[in-house]
Amino acid sequence: MILSTRYLGLALAHPIIASASPLTSTVDGICALEDAGAAAVVMPSLFEEQIRAEDTAYAMYTEHGTFSQSEAGSYFPTMPGYDRGVSGHLDTVRRAVAAVDIPVIASLNAVTTDGWVSYAARLEQAGAAALELNMYFIPADATMSGRDVEAHYIDAVRAVKRSATIPVAVKLSPFFSSIGHMGHQLAEAGADGLVLFNRFYQPDFDLATLSVKSDLKLSSSHEAGPSMLWISVLAGRIKSSLAGTTGVETAEQVVKYLLVGADAVMTTSALLRHGPAYIGGLVAGLDAWLEENGHASVSAIRGLKSLKQLDNVGELLRAQYMNLLTEYVPGQLAA
Ligand SMILES: Cc1cc2nc3c(=O)[nH]c(=O)nc-3n(C[C@H](O)[C@H](O)[C@H](O)COP(=O)(O)O)c2cc1C
Repeated sequence: MILSTRYLGLALAHPIIASASPLTSTVDGICALEDAGAAAVVMPSLFEEQIRAEDTAYAMYTEHGTFSQSEAGSYFPTMPGYDRGVSGHLDTVRRAVAAVDIPVIASLNAVTTDGWVSYAARLEQAGAAALELNMYFIPADATMSGRDVEAHYIDAVRAVKRSATIPVAVKLSPFFSSIGHMGHQLAEAGADGLVLFNRFYQPDFDLATLSVKSDLKLSSSHEAGPSMLWISVLAGRIKSSLAGTTGVETAEQVVKYLLVGADAVMTTSALLRHGPAYIGGLVAGLDAWLEENGHASVSAIRGLKSLKQLDNVGELLRAQYMNLLTEYVPGQLAA
């Protein structure tokens, strides 16, 4: 069975990548994922707040858990052995690249254009095979329009692409009015790949202390719907590669993402839940599914169920929604 695929122009042995998480934060973790059979790894994001505050001040506020920068702070669960300093992070990239044969993709979450450009360059110099821009910006300023928010993302991608010589992917949130249009704009701005979608900690309050708390809840397969929908809409219509992320818990889910048109899939929750070795089971399950269903390769099934051939996607999706409503009999939904 030919499992190989191309993602961001990189040749991968199969489509299953370990996405950014504590598991990919250290050289040992990355080596363990390579041994377990991961096709590539994405390292945790380097945050502009880390860069600006350098080691000391940033470590202070993340350790105190104030979450004053919600989008940044919310990504700092315990990562044993992870060096939060910028130089430590870059050193980990360098050592990981030297230690493994699979592509090591670096991730960046910046705020300013200068932050995006200068740290993209530093991660590239450290040897990353590609960059993933983890773009999650909270437009707390209510005078900012949707168009302004989109421009903020597009400008950053353009700026990074002007100087980067390695492929650049954009990891998006699903919070846009028109994901399809946004996907096309990002592709035009030069994004070599789109990663759909990121998944965030949801901040909450602890009523006893009135402090902000952030519970880590791992995903499950039923959360894959929005990512699959938008991959199926974009597949074959934009030149960027597409990676499916969120809810890749089983080999069946890997197959579904490929059928809707993903070039690769990424998984975190399943690996945190079951350990790195789980990736081997996903690869074996994909191989077995192809064999049982008479397909010779991953490329033979990619996009078979994308919406590319349909004239009016909106109508189709609405029809499915109406069917669901009319077919629903109270009490008959699975528990
Ligand atoms: C503990 C933890 C840390 C994460 N850190 C990052 C990160 O630094 N950068 C990033 O882009 N995504 C990060 N993510 C998101 C994952 O890479 C992934 O996109 C998300 O968990 C959805 O995939 P899943 O359903 O397989 O878990 C993190 C997720 C978890 C659970």
